[in-house]
Amino acid sequence: MTSPAPESPLAAPQRKKLFIRTWGCQMNVYDSTRMADVLAPLGYGPAETPEEADMVILNTCHIREKASEKVFSDLGRLRLLKTEKEQAGQKMVLAVAGCVAQAEGAEITVRAPWVDIVLGPQTYHRLPEMVARASRAAGAQIDTDFPVEQKFDLLPEVNANQGPIAFLTIQEGCDKFCSFCVVPYTRGAEFSRPVAAILAEARRLVAGGAREIALLGQNVNAWHGEAPDGSTWSLSRLLYALAEIDGLARIRYTTSHPRDMDDALIEAHGRIPQLMPFLHLPVQSGSDKVLAAMNRGHKAELFYRIADRLREARPDMALSSDFIVGHPGETAADHAATMQLVEKVGFALAYSFKYSPRPGTPAAGQPFQVPEAEKDARLQELQAVLRRQQDEFNRACVGREVDILWTGPGRHPGQIAGRTPWLQPVHAIGPAELAGRIARVRLTDAHPNSLSAVLLEEKELTPA
Ligand code: 5AD
Ligand code: SF4
Repeated sequence: MTSPAPESPLAAPQRKKLFIRTWGCQMNVYDSTRMADVLAPLGYGPAETPEEADMVILNTCHIREKASEKVFSDLGRLRLLKTEKEQAGQKMVLAVAGCVAQAEGAEITVRAPWVDIVLGPQTYHRLPEMVARASRAAGAQIDTDFPVEQKFDLLPEVNANQGPIAFLTIQEGCDKFCSFCVVPYTRGAEFSRPVAAILAEARRLVAGGAREIALLGQNVNAWHGEAPDGSTWSLSRLLYALAEIDGLARIRYTTSHPRDMDDALIEAHGRIPQLMPFLHLPVQSGSDKVLAAMNRGHKAELFYRIADRLREARPDMALSSDFIVGHPGETAADHAATMQLVEKVGFALAYSFKYSPRPGTPAAGQPFQVPEAEKDARLQELQAVLRRQQDEFNRACVGREVDILWTGPGRHPGQIAGRTPWLQPVHAIGPAELAGRIARVRLTDAHPNSLSAVLLEEKELTPA
């Protein structure tokens, strides 16, 4: 009689279920798909709910206080589930990944000792090994070391079937140290993936059905990757190279910093038809004094100039941005400068936040913190204008004929859903087979966060 084989997760073909809850930015969404890729060879397939999962990963965001507190309340609920499962003789591995894990790894093991694995954003390639150890050992495994170069080398090739819209991380980390921001501490120093790896991944994604690729990076336009000939490319050069890929109809990149919007990149928006006329470019504030206190490294004037020049290069260009109200030292006059910038530039979409002090960041210790009630009032005032601008932008689209990249079925029977060049969600009555294709519509109605449309014709676009 042979004894049972020792538990070997790498050889385990049995079906196990993985539930990943993702908070925060597109980088985290991308990382979640990579974690699923890494765990697939261990037999993990997707679970719909934590209840049916053998492993739950919370991929967390630390950017504002609310985001990390939500993680701890989720962990409280998962503790009950884990206990119930254990009582029923089942095992559930619980992992916390992402930026909260990076910044508060030790705190998690103290506040939530029922967590098995804590891993920072640069160590996902070690997940299989950690799962193997966690299924044997008691006590949390912590892995939040920083060698980001290794992460990309050691992760398996990206799952090419992300659907019509795919994400591709080209850059990670940040060296800019804005006063309020945890990213340089949680994601580490700026790192650019080399050209060859990016182009290979892009070709695989397109072969797997992607028609649109969004390049991701915390500081994506600071990307400067090594080319096969040893030279260094800037983002504009990479965009021209990506535009050569047959079948890739749309390209975007996010998130950018105004300081890195160089002339060649702005010009690329006028020259590359596949580059979509929509750019997320956080400005944070319209006051030079606050921008300096934030260590943003530019004045409001630069943002005005970039907006103008982008619109010269590409007249249908729409802008999106991030704003923070109530940074330490922000006065009513500073806030008025932000309101003025919003009115003058005009945004199709924007995200705005109350300043939230993050431990360890320079602004958290600064004097002249703005009272909460003042922050609330400023946020409301700002959001009212941003909401109005978004509505105006959407309403101005009604009646226009545009190309839509269809992504899948809509919410109602017979409907299909897709995206405009400006990233607005669109739905129309149409055949499900349109998913993955581009077809022209007339936009007929604007809703708060989407547009309705009627199909005009099916037109397969071949990129120029
Ligand atoms: N408080 C409020 N908002 C913040 N952001 C980043 N850090 C903070 C903070 N401490 C916002 C910025 C950034 C976006 C991703 O989150 O606007 O661009
Ligand atoms: Fe954070 Fe500033 Fe870096 Fe953006 S540029 S990730 S806000 S430190």
